[in-house]
Amino acid sequence: MNITTAPELIGRAAQGITPGYMSGFGNSFETEALPGALPIGRNSPQRAPYGLYAEQLSGSPFTAPRGRNERSWLYRIRPSVQHSGSFAKADCGLWRSAPCFEHEMPIAQLRWDPPPLLQGQQTFLQGVETMTTAGDVATQAGMAAHIYLITASMLHQHVYDADGELLFVPQQGGLRLVTEFGVISISPGEIAVIPRGVKFRVELIDGPARGYLCENYGGAFTLPERGPIGANCLANARDFLTPVAAYEDSDEPSELFVKWGGALWVTQLPHSPLDVVAWHGNYAPYKYDLRSFSPVGAIGFDHPDPSIFTVLTSPSETAGTANIDFVIFPERWSVAENTFRPPWYHMNIMSEFMGLIEGVYDAKPQGFLPGGASLHNMMLPHGPDREAFDHATTSELQPVKLTGTLAFMFETRYPQRVTKHAATSGTLQADYAECWRGLEKRFDPTKP
Ligand code: FE2
Repeated sequence: MNITTAPELIGRAAQGITPGYMSGFGNSFETEALPGALPIGRNSPQRAPYGLYAEQLSGSPFTAPRGRNERSWLYRIRPSVQHSGSFAKADCGLWRSAPCFEHEMPIAQLRWDPPPLLQGQQTFLQGVETMTTAGDVATQAGMAAHIYLITASMLHQHVYDADGELLFVPQQGGLRLVTEFGVISISPGEIAVIPRGVKFRVELIDGPARGYLCENYGGAFTLPERGPIGANCLANARDFLTPVAAYEDSDEPSELFVKWGGALWVTQLPHSPLDVVAWHGNYAPYKYDLRSFSPVGAIGFDHPDPSIFTVLTSPSETAGTANIDFVIFPERWSVAENTFRPPWYHMNIMSEFMGLIEGVYDAKPQGFLPGGASLHNMMLPHGPDREAFDHATTSELQPVKLTGTLAFMFETRYPQRVTKHAATSGTLQADYAECWRGLEKRFDPTKP
């Protein structure tokens, strides 16, 4: 299918901005794939240019405070009522939603090896494997942590998620997210967020793809407050990229899947629903290169809580108590003096799902592999393994650069329930807790 993109690409490339994207976080963007397609001075003229239909997509209630109000105006070939129809229940495979009580396992710290890529043909729709769920999809609170395994591009198929926004974290292989707002390409080290209700399909770029997916049932991801850090560092707004308008004028039949109410539904369409020729507003998909993150950390002694590595946060109604924090552990210098430098031993009211994109995570030099995952649930103790403890307590504390490493965490205020698939998977490490067994008693009351 041909995709028609915006003519302003050339101008933006000349300005040094990546072709195909507009920079900034939460901006009021405007973009058109045909000159003059975007009405000027009003949202809904009597007749929109090019015979397009004007349509609003509201990501927040109309009356949300201005700072959290999200909506976009789309100018499309057909209104979305024609991208709908008689829905039938579809097979959702291993995609689960909260609350999910399908399997009960004893509470424990859990860790999984990376799942192998399958040999068969598997699109995004078949490739989502839910590891944990938290909260309740019907109350728009909580999240699901998924792993995706994709070996085939979606062809004449599209999907939107009414249950939550989707945060893609590629670990192996790139993805091309063809959305009704434009096209986003991401590869390992980058992330993308597709808001609730935005139609898209997933295509492969360079072979099979594996990665992580956070389905956020709650408030939309936004940038965290910086507090005393000030106006700069961490994730900077200008590094977020939103695609320029691109559309398909295709009358080839297609299927539209909708994730709604914890189930997957499907309807048949006689055309492509990706028919938005122009749009403006602040509710749109975006991408971000995690290597743009400017970490802030300890330059004296001790180290701050890992919240200093928060890239995006989904706030809840309670200040400082996130529905989800998306946190990364990137390359950085470690320089603190007379300090136990790895993450400390702790218990946490928040629940932590972790993944590793590349390299070695400093608290778990063994067993936590790229593409794998771990879960440290609410008030379950965890921390560095024996090897990391020995290294941290005996090595000479020179400045050290942690290189070639990128781990992340989906951290939520809600306890995470492990799915049956995750609990019975052959990738579950039965001996994970053994990594702390070797931490022998060192206490000697005669040696202060
Ligand atoms: Fe932790």
